[in-house]
Amino acid sequence: MNISRILRIVLMVLGGLVVAAVIARWQLQSADRMAAGPAAAVGGPFQLVDHTGRTVTDADYRGKQLLIYFGYTFCPDVCPTELAAMAQALDRLGPAADKVQPLFITIDPARDTVEKLAQYVPLFHPRMAGLTGTAEQIATVAKAYRVYYAKAPAKAGEGKAGDDATYMMDHSSFVYWMDGQNRFRGVFPAGTSAGEMAEKLRAGVAG
Ligand code: NI
Repeated sequence: MNISRILRIVLMVLGGLVVAAVIARWQLQSADRMAAGPAAAVGGPFQLVDHTGRTVTDADYRGKQLLIYFGYTFCPDVCPTELAAMAQALDRLGPAADKVQPLFITIDPARDTVEKLAQYVPLFHPRMAGLTGTAEQIATVAKAYRVYYAKAPAKAGEGKAGDDATYMMDHSSFVYWMDGQNRFRGVFPAGTSAGEMAEKLRAGVAG
């Protein structure tokens, strides 16, 4: 185990602690029935390109509750599981799902081109938008949402990290829930069921 690997693990743990604190705060606010608590410092404006090639900003989604997941299309397990849960949550909402916009933002823009996203997001939901951008644009939006991501080191015998097209990415995994003004409402940790997501969203879109 080398230094960079230890550093990476420390960073992932720290990122997890920040989000855990945010979740705790969210739960406190829910318990207090705070109608309009101070917005936690999670999220922010972004400019990216969607899977149809259109340049989009957060303003394009005003009025919709946002479900945002950061991941990458090459991810073998966690990303597809979370995106499927988001899609199933929308299905459970019925007509109210029209008030929710599901977004998949790649943290691997080098491989996740507009064309790749156009093939990928419809596998989960017809209204899911896939967003990519320059490395800088992705870094900016990831920072705003406190998302950790990094190219994973290659396993022994596979050569140096990132020297071929099959590298993996390490990344934090949360479904972010933003309101119609792109203000933070909460996060669903990895493994949250579609039913639980739908239940919270239903209360949110009704308000
Ligand atoms: Ni993933």
